[in-house]
Amino acid sequence: MFPKDFLWGGATAANQCEGGYNEGGRGLANVDVVPHGPERRPVERGLRKMLDFEEGYYYPAKTAVDFYHHYKEDIAMFGEMGFRTFRLSIAWTRIFPNGDEEEPNEEGLKFYDSVFDECHKYGIEPLVTITHFDMPVYLIKKYGGWKNRKLIEFYKRLVTVLFTRYKGKVRYWLTFNEINMILHMPFMGAGLVFEEGEDRNAAIYSSVHNEMAASAWAVKIGHEIDPDNKIGCMLAAGDFYPLTSDPKDVFLAMQTDRDNLMFIDVQARGYYPNYALKQFEQKNIRIDMTDEDLRIMRENTVDFISLSFYSTRCVSTHDDVEKVQGNAFGGVRNPYLQRSEWGWAIDPLGFRTTMNKLYDRYQKPLFIVENGLGAKDKIEEDGSINDDYRIDYLRRHIQAMDDAITLDGVEVLGYTTWGCIDLVSAGTGEMSKRYGFIYVDRNDDGSGTLKRSKKKSFYWYKKVIATNGADLS
Ligand code: BG6
Repeated sequence: MFPKDFLWGGATAANQCEGGYNEGGRGLANVDVVPHGPERRPVERGLRKMLDFEEGYYYPAKTAVDFYHHYKEDIAMFGEMGFRTFRLSIAWTRIFPNGDEEEPNEEGLKFYDSVFDECHKYGIEPLVTITHFDMPVYLIKKYGGWKNRKLIEFYKRLVTVLFTRYKGKVRYWLTFNEINMILHMPFMGAGLVFEEGEDRNAAIYSSVHNEMAASAWAVKIGHEIDPDNKIGCMLAAGDFYPLTSDPKDVFLAMQTDRDNLMFIDVQARGYYPNYALKQFEQKNIRIDMTDEDLRIMRENTVDFISLSFYSTRCVSTHDDVEKVQGNAFGGVRNPYLQRSEWGWAIDPLGFRTTMNKLYDRYQKPLFIVENGLGAKDKIEEDGSINDDYRIDYLRRHIQAMDDAITLDGVEVLGYTTWGCIDLVSAGTGEMSKRYGFIYVDRNDDGSGTLKRSKKKSFYWYKKVIATNGADLS
């Protein structure tokens, strides 16, 4: 049974749905210059430097699904489904086009004012990700992005403007989307570019520290401006399983989990765990940490833990195993699980396990802010889209979440499915990898009318929300 005030809804990110990349005084962001096609992965991973649009490439984020001009229509459809919350992110470059200005861009602020007003019209509580992979290119070029401690100041300026302007309109905030993604996609996840011969690990962990300090400042500033604000961290979650009971596999799984959990350990508990400090020492990673950073982190832990969950992952120390690439996380094939068309393992019970482990570790409420199935949809002759595979995936995961709440006692504030309206895939840049209840007529090459239509899952999710998760049939 779900709590009475459970926040059902859907999630998006500015760079994957807004478009309007050069409208309203917006500046250029790292996420704009990640192309579709074979160069995408190297750019995402910081292996190929691309800091501007280049000839001969298609950049899907420029228009995305044009939420910038369609938001009223889209939010009305979310309202029709009965959403109680809608997760969206702020494009940093709409508020501070370069990132280091003293004054914000009023047109950008007004845009989000209208979006939030529109949400409230339908009784939808906005859930705002302050940065979802987003970073002004100017900050990368001039300051080296998050490697530079100055970024903490620019981020503080950004959050102060947001918390002040949207006081009373927004209560739920996330500081950084999938903060651990910096390990796997440093450019896409955090705008990191590496110089010839630079120590990648040192650059990554210095940036991580600066992000975590900035995140703690956001918690402090957000609570000072409005004590009603609830501010969370965000983890790309999914347990790592050992492929076998070989203790070496078990140990590797624990270590790999820790690589990702380290971020939340700091954000939720307020200090670096010993295993992380030891790793920095062993790898000779020197991070410029001030006493003030450590104090701010200790005093300003998050109110809740938010997470995305698509799949679990599996690791092994053995050689004779099949390697797979699900999401940005590599690993080996788990023989017990089926996989999506994109090779992501489907594991509803693993979802319940992951929720339990996070709750055990942090003892703070969870918020599931991403879950869903990326799949190709087919439009029938009568225009209908029968996405039973998506319904099946969501049904099984919602059931697992219900079990975690009802049978295990995990506290969960809400659930927002990823890409409630079709949007550009972050990993691949494709439109054909669809997650939505709402279909958007747009193709991988940018053709299409952008017309919206309801899939079968639209009606199904509407019923799920109306019955507060009791009827999943
Ligand atoms: C998460 C991100 O990693 O997974 C989203 O927060 C992303 O931005 C989602 O879209 C699904 O991944 P993909 O690669 O299928 O878009």
